[in-house]
Amino acid sequence: MSVVAIVPAAGRGERLGLGLPKALALVGGLTMVARAVDGLVEGGVDHVVVAAPPGDEDTVRAALAHRAVQVVPGADDRVGSVDAALAALPAGTEVVLVHDAARCLCPPAVVRAVVDAVRAGHRAVVPATAVADTLKRTDPAGVVTATVDRRGLAAVQTPQGFDVATLRAAHERARAHRAAGEPVTATDDAGLAEAMGVSVATVPGDPRAFKVTTPLDLAMAEALVTAGPA
Ligand code: C5P
Repeated sequence: MSVVAIVPAAGRGERLGLGLPKALALVGGLTMVARAVDGLVEGGVDHVVVAAPPGDEDTVRAALAHRAVQVVPGADDRVGSVDAALAALPAGTEVVLVHDAARCLCPPAVVRAVVDAVRAGHRAVVPATAVADTLKRTDPAGVVTATVDRRGLAAVQTPQGFDVATLRAAHERARAHRAAGEPVTATDDAGLAEAMGVSVATVPGDPRAFKVTTPLDLAMAEALVTAGPA
């Protein structure tokens, strides 16, 4: 049981507007959470722990059908949902991935690359892609105050990979900050590792690992599945 993936799937999916948890939205007739789990297993993951919206665990279990997956209740935010799944990791876990259910079309090759980089000795690894748009800084009124040099910037995706001790320590630190009333501003797990001084390596990401957030994203995911393997 050495490579375990945590799938935070406890988001309510309000921006998607379907009236159901985002992970249960269908893409090509299959829920996003089931697609995400299948991609991870194809990429070499041995065991998966899914954080479901609290109260919807049975629905998520049913959506995962025959898949041998552990389902735990998630929390109010993503960091809390990952933390809940971390508490359920099986003994013997060496490499742990954290992968958004919403990035359900991530190619298995990206999963493999992340696992290989952790196995090669990196404590934290993220898939990264170049930024295509020009980036501006704006003031609260929406007026541009600066153009950001995009050279040296990367957009990062999931799965993010860690040796298990690093991810546990990063979340323990975040938990302690919260308990002390300090805000936890990281929007990904690598951000929590960075905050404790861990160097984060990158592997090439893939445009198909985009995060389904809006109805347009869902339409793009559906079109990609209909078009078949690219
Ligand atoms: O909301 P957002 O798109 O940033 O969520 C990213 C991932 O984190 C999704 O897969 C979502 O289900 C998950 N999430 C979670 N628990 C929350 C909020 C989001 O597991 N409370």
